[in-house]
Amino acid sequence: MRVLMVAPPGAGKGTQGAVIAEHFRIRHVAMGDLLRRHVVEGTELGRRVRGHLDRGDLVPDEIVLELLRLEFAEAKRDGGGYVLDGIPRTMAQALAAYRVALSLQMTADVALHLQADDEELMRRLLKRAAVEHRSDDNEGVIRRRLKQYREVTEPVLAFYAGRGILLTVDATRPVEAVTRDVLAALTARAA
Ligand code: AP5
Repeated sequence: MRVLMVAPPGAGKGTQGAVIAEHFRIRHVAMGDLLRRHVVEGTELGRRVRGHLDRGDLVPDEIVLELLRLEFAEAKRDGGGYVLDGIPRTMAQALAAYRVALSLQMTADVALHLQADDEELMRRLLKRAAVEHRSDDNEGVIRRRLKQYREVTEPVLAFYAGRGILLTVDATRPVEAVTRDVLAALTARAA
């Protein structure tokens, strides 16, 4: 199973991505987590991306794509399955990821779109901010991330609709209900 997720901040990419990975025993590639790990470990890459993360800006494509190439290579070694969480966020990333996947014969089977409105997403992220203290979880930066998603990332959905692999799920319901629908739809597509 090869899945990529296109969804706004707070829609549940991390939550559902972990469940999908466990269910299908595939690699969970969470770009935000990878980048934050570099920041915490103080690597050179971490120093380059820290400001972008804090402001809620997109990290330059070349950095994201280099990390993605490494993750695809690992996924290939592990059997070829993956669930991408947070990639792509731009049309350029979508096309580049497609080319890399094509060269490895592991293009996505499903583009999972978790749909939710900004009011619900803001509520979830402010709730998380109270416990997790992520540097980009404050009202101003969340608004910026949501605006960026609507303007830059959401249009990428048309690319996957055109390829016939888009699957949209209502992500405003409780986690368990979203998980049930996601796993049922992915299982049906895998059959
Ligand atoms: P990233 O870490 O991917 O952040 P994000 O897209 O803003 O998404 P979140 O992690 O906030 O939300 P999520 O959709 O994963 O939801 P989650 O399951 O956590 O990226 C961070 C930054 O890295 C970006 O801003 C950018 O700077 C950089 N970056 C990453 N990828 C990049 C790329 N490709 N190109 C360039 N830059 C990139 O859930 C959120 C909360 O809601 C949790 O508390 C959860 O418990 C709760 N929740 C989840 N589902 C439900 C539900 N159904 N009902 C109620 N609560 C729920």
